[in-house]
Amino acid sequence: MATVRQSRKSFLFTLTAAIVAVMGVGRFLSPRIGRKKALLTVSAAEVPHEGALVYREARVALFRDGGEEIYALSLICTHLGCTVTVTTAGIVCPCHGSVYDRRGGLLKGPATRSLLRYRVERQGENLVVFA
Ligand code: FES
Repeated sequence: MATVRQSRKSFLFTLTAAIVAVMGVGRFLSPRIGRKKALLTVSAAEVPHEGALVYREARVALFRDGGEEIYALSLICTHLGCTVTVTTAGIVCPCHGSVYDRRGGLLKGPATRSLLRYRVERQGENLVVFA
């Protein structure tokens, strides 16, 4: 009888410890799940119809897609992480010469992937760029 009692006690202790552990880990993980990190907020009117609105410090550029669609690209080169430069000819990495088109598509390596595109959400007259 003592073994059954001890076994039940041990089981309840283990169960309680497991629940506390899951709650503790969940507390640290849950705020990160689905959390949106806003990189910057800009007025939609500031994005030019030609060229780009470049935030070099945030390493983000906003472009218009002909009409009213606005998209944001990361200015972090996908090769080794240098900050790329937006030019009239495209987007060029000064470090090793990778070239991307205006939509972030890779034209020339050594990079092997296109630039990352950020989600842009319109909030009234403003645009919020999320990582
Ligand atoms: S870091 Fe851009 S091409 Fe190497």
